Amino acid sequence: MSGSCCIGISNMKPCCRILIGSKSCSFFGVSSRKLNNHSVVDNLSKLQFKSTRKRRYRSCSSRIVGHIRVIDQDRRAFSVSDPNWGQSKVFSGVYINNGGRGGSSRRGVLVVPKVASDFRNHSTSVEANNINDKNFERIYVQGGFNVKPLVIERIETGPNDVVKEDDPIVGVTGSNVNIDDLKGLNEPKVFEREVSEIEKEAWRLLQDSVVTYCGNPVGTLAAKDPADKQPLNYDQVFIRDFVPSALAFLLKGETEIVKNFLLHTLQLQSWEKTVDCHSPGQGLMPASFKVRTVPLDGSDGSFEEVLDPDFGESAIGRVAPVDSGLWWIILLRAYGKITGDYGLQERVDVQTGIRLILNLCLSDGFDMFPTLLVTDGSCMIDRRMGIHGHPLEIQALFYSALRCSREMLIVNDNTKNLVAAINNRLSALSFHIREYYWVDMKKINEIYRYKTEEYSTDAINKFNIYPDQIPSWLVDWIPEEGGYLIGNLQPAHMDFRFFTLGNLWAIVSSLGTSNQNEGILNLIESKWDDLMGQMPLKICYPALEYEEWRIITGGDPKNTPWSYHNGGSWPTLLWQFTLACIKMGKPELAQKAVALAEKRLAADQWPEYYDTRNGRFIGKQSRLFQTWTIAGFLASKMLLENPQRASLLFWEEDYELLQTCVCALGKTGGRRKCSRFNSRSQILV
Ligand code: GLC
Repeated sequence: MSGSCCIGISNMKPCCRILIGSKSCSFFGVSSRKLNNHSVVDNLSKLQFKSTRKRRYRSCSSRIVGHIRVIDQDRRAFSVSDPNWGQSKVFSGVYINNGGRGGSSRRGVLVVPKVASDFRNHSTSVEANNINDKNFERIYVQGGFNVKPLVIERIETGPNDVVKEDDPIVGVTGSNVNIDDLKGLNEPKVFEREVSEIEKEAWRLLQDSVVTYCGNPVGTLAAKDPADKQPLNYDQVFIRDFVPSALAFLLKGETEIVKNFLLHTLQLQSWEKTVDCHSPGQGLMPASFKVRTVPLDGSDGSFEEVLDPDFGESAIGRVAPVDSGLWWIILLRAYGKITGDYGLQERVDVQTGIRLILNLCLSDGFDMFPTLLVTDGSCMIDRRMGIHGHPLEIQALFYSALRCSREMLIVNDNTKNLVAAINNRLSALSFHIREYYWVDMKKINEIYRYKTEEYSTDAINKFNIYPDQIPSWLVDWIPEEGGYLIGNLQPAHMDFRFFTLGNLWAIVSSLGTSNQNEGILNLIESKWDDLMGQMPLKICYPALEYEEWRIITGGDPKNTPWSYHNGGSWPTLLWQFTLACIKMGKPELAQKAVALAEKRLAADQWPEYYDTRNGRFIGKQSRLFQTWTIAGFLASKMLLENPQRASLLFWEEDYELLQTCVCALGKTGGRRKCSRFNSRSQILV
């Protein structure tokens, strides 16, 4: 075992790997718990699945018992156990052997050991299919009837997995923030001014929405409206909804809840999940989870708390929560940046979590584009809205998550291929979006004069877009200055709708070029009445109406024109707008939007969304006391007060990435065919 470090985490209880016999299915009403012998299981295929399901939970007493053999004294290990991390009885024998040099807490803000941003050594000629490295595959989720599912059998680290506490900063490629400016940033800066009554109410409501698990805060409810008799799943902790809550808490110096959230959702990631006995990918993060109190197995009258995740199997429309894992990675980085506690992201279980998510996102499929191919409703818009394919929101979050991972992944022999794949994907993805999603006056005029049916690698109209697709609203709407990234791109199809989150997040993550980022903000400014109206911010513009609404949404009565996801106004988007404005040096725009929201939010009882063309009415089915509305408002206020801290949450252009081109580096002489080099516009910066 020269130079390697093995971590064996195995489950104490006997387990049987019968994947179809997942405990979450029962057969003819017989609980699969009882079906623990093979002959019965063999017969199961003859039986018909009954869809009633017994759910499995993660309970306080879930045990992940591990041991570690540290071979090399200098080898760095990771701490899984954390005294601050609740009493959720996650036992771990994984411990730090760092020669008594102490934990990583003494590191400064930007000192990240051998993180993936040291990518130069690994960025050449890596094919995407190399990312499934063998050792990594040994971590798997073991199915069984009566076992807790996380089994990390063995992680081998290679000889390069040496990360010394004193390693210097290794090309951290986050925001180009001068380190000197960051001094003192990690001391929580609370308020330097009198907090308004509205903010006080918002804080009270936010605190009130906090969910505890085994006595520890782990998240916030999606909404807490005392008058709501049918909360549906709004009484759950949604991954995406928690992000603004987390930022508000982090900026206020309350970090424990965020850490707990990150670690508990990480446990859920490895859950044995099934949708009608189909198991979705291993790295999937749930859309939401709920803390339930259930009778304790085998005891009279005692109860225990359990975490019950929803991977989409209960969600309306059974939508896939593709964005959850991406948000989790983004939040993990934000946690490190704001608290300076990089120990969390360096933990072996956390590193594994990142890799699982990335493996899922980077795995090969039939796709021709570097963008992520997803089904409809796989993000904030979690209903049918014609955003299947390659929606901008997912691409922008994907890009951000890749940039985060590149900073956080510890480089060793087992991760270097993954890191190279990340770099290649980042480069291809930004090129693709910049080149093909961008529209402005000039580009629309080009599309208007497109020739179609071009066959060859030199085609100008690569996606065979028929000029007739340019919608009539766009002809008048597109300003002389500025532009935006379209909502989706597919063969022969451009979705010209303006989707706010994707465009804002493109600015924040520098997915767009600096000119494009500036152009997007210019467009928002010049289309203020359409996008802000009386309540910031439109989720998308314009709404689908008439036949289009009927065909594309399937006649969805919740998504009628200018309501909910179909052109409704969502105040939660304020924090992302604020971040984008601060990054682009226009905080006054964010201030104006926050002031607009502040006039109404508290009086209207913090609605989830607003309806009508200019956001005048509270949404027809809008929840009240919606947590991410409250948290988004608070986070915006705090970001505006602390622009330096805000700068920790966005990225500048990474010029090294621009130099990477997968085909140019390939051995097959792909350079000649690389459309990127042939590209007419060469939109790079
Ligand atoms: C709605 C939103 C979704 C959000 C959820 C909980 O389903 O579309 O984005 O996460 O409510 O607030």
